[in-house]
Amino acid sequence: MSQYWSKLVHSLTPYVPGEQPKINNLIKLNTNENPYGPSPKVIAALQKEAADSLRLYPDPNSDGLKQAIAEYHGLNANQVFVGNGSDEVLAHVFNALLKHDKPILFPDVTYSFYPVYCGLYEIEFETVPLNDAFEIKVEDYFKANGGIIFPNPNAPTGRLLALPEIERLLKNNTESVVVIDEAYVDFGGESAVALVNRYPQLLVTHTLSKARSLAGLRVGYAVGHPDLIDALHRVKDSFNSYPLDRFAQAGAIAAMQDKSYFEEMRQRVIETREKLVNDLESLDFEVLPSGANFIFARHPQYDAEALAASLRDQKVIIRHFKKPSRIAQFLRITIGTDEECQALVKALKNTLKI
Ligand SMILES: Cc1ncc(COP(=O)(O)O)c(C=O)c1O
Repeated sequence: MSQYWSKLVHSLTPYVPGEQPKINNLIKLNTNENPYGPSPKVIAALQKEAADSLRLYPDPNSDGLKQAIAEYHGLNANQVFVGNGSDEVLAHVFNALLKHDKPILFPDVTYSFYPVYCGLYEIEFETVPLNDAFEIKVEDYFKANGGIIFPNPNAPTGRLLALPEIERLLKNNTESVVVIDEAYVDFGGESAVALVNRYPQLLVTHTLSKARSLAGLRVGYAVGHPDLIDALHRVKDSFNSYPLDRFAQAGAIAAMQDKSYFEEMRQRVIETREKLVNDLESLDFEVLPSGANFIFARHPQYDAEALAASLRDQKVIIRHFKKPSRIAQFLRITIGTDEECQALVKALKNTLKI
């Protein structure tokens, strides 16, 4: 604490990202990164960008990237907003579209950055409990609100909400913005992007960090009605003109255009997930159905924190959310390669003495 801090800073509870360990040889299944590298076409685009032109500022509007994203989704470029990771896109969304008189709504178990943005932008929120099966029930959101946001699939549960349910929510919530955070949708979900031309209050956010293996490049985007996108640009241009550097723009364009690599990699992750779910179930874990590149699981006899610690001793790191809550006995495990997941199962067998 310092006397020089702005008043707001004293009240902030910043987000704590999953560990990025400095130790080598760990099997890292804790931050939902992709176990496979990006497309070779992305690497080639980045290498080409390492040139004299770096002395010049990048395109402040990222027009080429917006066009590539628009083409990928069959939309117009004026329906696309891009940012430095979807975290930055989400920050602007909270500031530009979710700050109203009424509280915004999001699930009680969800991406823990949402309450942090509310703290930063002084937005009131109400959490809406998931049901006992950790599912979102859209009718629970049919009430006055300043906006609604949740990930689909939800994080950290991995549970998917079917598209007709999202449409039912939109039909019953026309007065405020509904944000669907689709960071993980490519691992088995049906995207709400299909609905943006019909619902002007719908905004869908995506990231290149997960299915496109580019967590290190920091690119995310939002798609929706041009009026929503306009609000995001007004905030972005009051904050940072150049959030995406030349590398990020060039690499992201190549990633959006290489559809076959993307298809192959996401299929691989989905196949490994199905194998890992079977393996964990055969060790008596309860695994929530997952549409993401991670699973959320608990063991009826073993304490989650102790399991996570034992795995770490065996050089496998996964994520355990310590806060006392109804997810305290769950482990969130990122899908790695087949070999990494086998190493995890082996380490679990050691711990469970099977
Ligand atoms: C639900 C959800 N949304 C958004 C993000 C942010 O991703 P990024 O900033 O890498 O695009 C994450 C990251 O893990 C996430 O879990």
